[in-house]
Amino acid sequence: MRTVLIILCLGLFSIQGILAQTPDNREMAIWNETEAEKTERMKWWTEDRFGMFIHWGLYAQLARHEWIKKNERISDEAYQKYFELFDPDLFNPAEWAAKAKAAGMKYAVITSKHHEGFCLFDSKYTDYKATNTPYGKDIIKEWVDAFRAKGLKVGFYYSLIDWHHPHYSIDRVHPRSASSEEEYARLNEGRDMDIYRQYLKDQVRELLTNYGKIDLLWLDYSFPGKFGKGRDDWDAVELMKMVRQLQPDVLVNDRADLKEYWGGWDFTTPEQFKVQSWPEIDGKKVPWETCQTFSGSWGYYRDEQTWKDNRQLLVLLIETVSKGGNLLLNVGPTARGTFDSRADKALAEMGEWMKLHGRSIYGCTQAPEEFEAPEHTILTYNPTTNRLYIHLLDYPITNFRLPGYKGKVKYAQFLHDASEILITAPYGHHMQGSIATEADLNLRLPVIKPNVEIPVIELYLE
Ligand code: GLC
Repeated sequence: MRTVLIILCLGLFSIQGILAQTPDNREMAIWNETEAEKTERMKWWTEDRFGMFIHWGLYAQLARHEWIKKNERISDEAYQKYFELFDPDLFNPAEWAAKAKAAGMKYAVITSKHHEGFCLFDSKYTDYKATNTPYGKDIIKEWVDAFRAKGLKVGFYYSLIDWHHPHYSIDRVHPRSASSEEEYARLNEGRDMDIYRQYLKDQVRELLTNYGKIDLLWLDYSFPGKFGKGRDDWDAVELMKMVRQLQPDVLVNDRADLKEYWGGWDFTTPEQFKVQSWPEIDGKKVPWETCQTFSGSWGYYRDEQTWKDNRQLLVLLIETVSKGGNLLLNVGPTARGTFDSRADKALAEMGEWMKLHGRSIYGCTQAPEEFEAPEHTILTYNPTTNRLYIHLLDYPITNFRLPGYKGKVKYAQFLHDASEILITAPYGHHMQGSIATEADLNLRLPVIKPNVEIPVIELYLE
């Protein structure tokens, strides 16, 4: 009897899970867009695949992580000097946009406000903003104009968390986090989250009203539970209704704690982490974007040495697309407004590869199941052109076996120079056993690895 009850309950839960994902479940729906309309709205993003994340704020001056205020429990008073000093005299957003574009990125997302609470935009609801620093200008306005001018789609990151607002209650991730219930109660005396909720809504409204069409909104983040915050603390349902109404085309990430709400989010955001396979919810593949750093910190971190090399970054991008996802790769500009030389180098190297291999990334996705990835390779597939891309992580010697590809391939070439690769019988003497079965194809590759970091074979499929 108990087992039956448990099974029944589990059944109900999973039915609810599925219902929550559909537009017809009105109670949990923020709007009534259909599944097909959603796919259409997200099309540009699904095709673009590669974007730039930009984390910039006062923390760039401390140059040791954007969480520095929390990590070192810096007081508002001590943090104030960075506000009074902030003057990025070399800030040239047109240059940033050119670098993003040259790297092959198609969209960009900038921190309009990070957890520290400092606003790069000219908000009328706070004094804690770029226009009141020595720099004196609306950075977001300059940034949006420059990025749009280069043909890049623009997005705003906005931190739901705020370590500066006097009415934001102290929680477990706050720089003043406490060690007991009593201490929290004492610290939060006189703090009124209603006021903060209104502030946050007003600011998101400004961001979605004063800067033209915004392609993407990246809200960060919820941490429900004891001394945490979730959807009710943000009034996230109402917030999201407003977002949808102000910018019906905007794409929104999934960190406002609205996972069960239809219209509460558009894509999921695994962070600093390679997924094993295309993320699914209730057995259904969902749109996803992984955000990653070059070196472990989002904000500029002068002494951080763990920079990924070009090959790691390219594999990250290729692997992401091979599982149907997007890559949002972060730059943390310096307090003078420049990208540091390591970021410049990484972007330039990726750009060199992307210039020749963008075709295996843009508009591509996971390969159809019938195509097995040959040894040491990653596959991507363009469903519109019906071409399959084989990324060679380890360059083979002469014979290259495509397992079970017989009858499926019309033509093979290298992507970087469009030079034909012969589909022929395996080459060699005294071959013991067979290196190719009846169902396989064999490619004859040149011995010398092409002069590109990761060579790509483009297959025109039947
Ligand atoms: C985390 C961090 C934050 C960073 C973000 C990027 O939520 O709090 O510093 O902005 O991830 O995904």
